[in-house]
This record gives sequence, C-alpha cells and structure tokens, in this order.
Amino acid sequence: MKSLSLSSLILSFGLALCSLASAEPFTSADANAGKALVAKNCVSCHAESFGGDGSGIYTRESRKVKTSKGLVAQVRSCNTMIGLKWFEDEELNVAKYLNQTYYKFTE
Ligand code: HEC
Repeated sequence: MKSLSLSSLILSFGLALCSLASAEPFTSADANAGKALVAKNCVSCHAESFGGDGSGIYTRESRKVKTSKGLVAQVRSCNTMIGLKWFEDEELNVAKYLNQTYYKFTE
C-alpha cells in the first residue's frame, strides 16, 4: 500500500514538472489584457514605420527579438522609451500576447 501511494506521488510530481515546462513561456500572464495594452499604446507607432497594422515589425525577416527573455526586454524598452511606467505584470501580459500571436517561442 505504502509503495503504491509513493509511486503515485512520484507520478504526479513528474506531471507537475512537465506542465511547468509546457510550450508556453508566460503561463500566468493574461494575453487579452496584453492585447488591449498593445492596441492602445503600441500599434500606432509601429504602423507608422512598418505600414498596415504595424505587426510587420514582429514578423520581419530581420526582427530583433529571438527569445522569450528578449521579448520581455524589448517590451520593457519600448515601454520605457514612451514613459508608460507599466508594472511587471503588464509587461508580461503584453509579452504573452505578442508571443502567442507572433513570436511563438515555446520556452
Ligand atoms: C515611438 C514609436 C514606438 C512606440 C510607441 C512603440 N514602439 Fe516598439 N518599436 C519601435 C521601433 C522603431 C522598433 C524597431 C527597433 C529596431 O529595429 O531597432 C520597435 C520594436 C519593437 C519590438 C521588436 C520587434 C522585433 O524586431 O522583433 C517589440 C516587441 C516592440 N517594439 C514592442 C513595443 C511595445 C510592447 C510597445 C508599447 C508599449 C511599443 N513597442 C511601442 C517604435 C515604437
């Protein structure tokens, strides 16, 4: 009996680790909130320099952002540049939205 519960404990621990390493680097962030923040604060300037809805800046061949960490850093630097003073959770919401929609980093 004891060994059975131990192995199920190990199994559930393993599953928990797997879900931690899931294909989504910003699990606890809110992509919908991020989408609204981007639409309000970010799109117009990108659209001015890249045309259309501005999303070409995220999908261009020579894009700068290569990792999910780099994405957060870039969100932070555009945010700082325009003086928004977002909280970290807002930056992560935006990073999650941009990742799900354009970058698709899995870790
Ligand atoms: C005043 C204009 C302006 C505003 C406003 C602005 N950006 Fe940017 N953003 C730029 C420019 C210019 C670049 C390209 C920089 C480069 O290529 O070196 C850029 C690049 C980026 C990239 C990297 C794209 C790549 O190459 O992978 C991200 C991500 C980004 N911006 C996010 C944001 C977010 C989030 C906001 C809103 C908080 C925002 N930007 C607001 C001008 C702006």
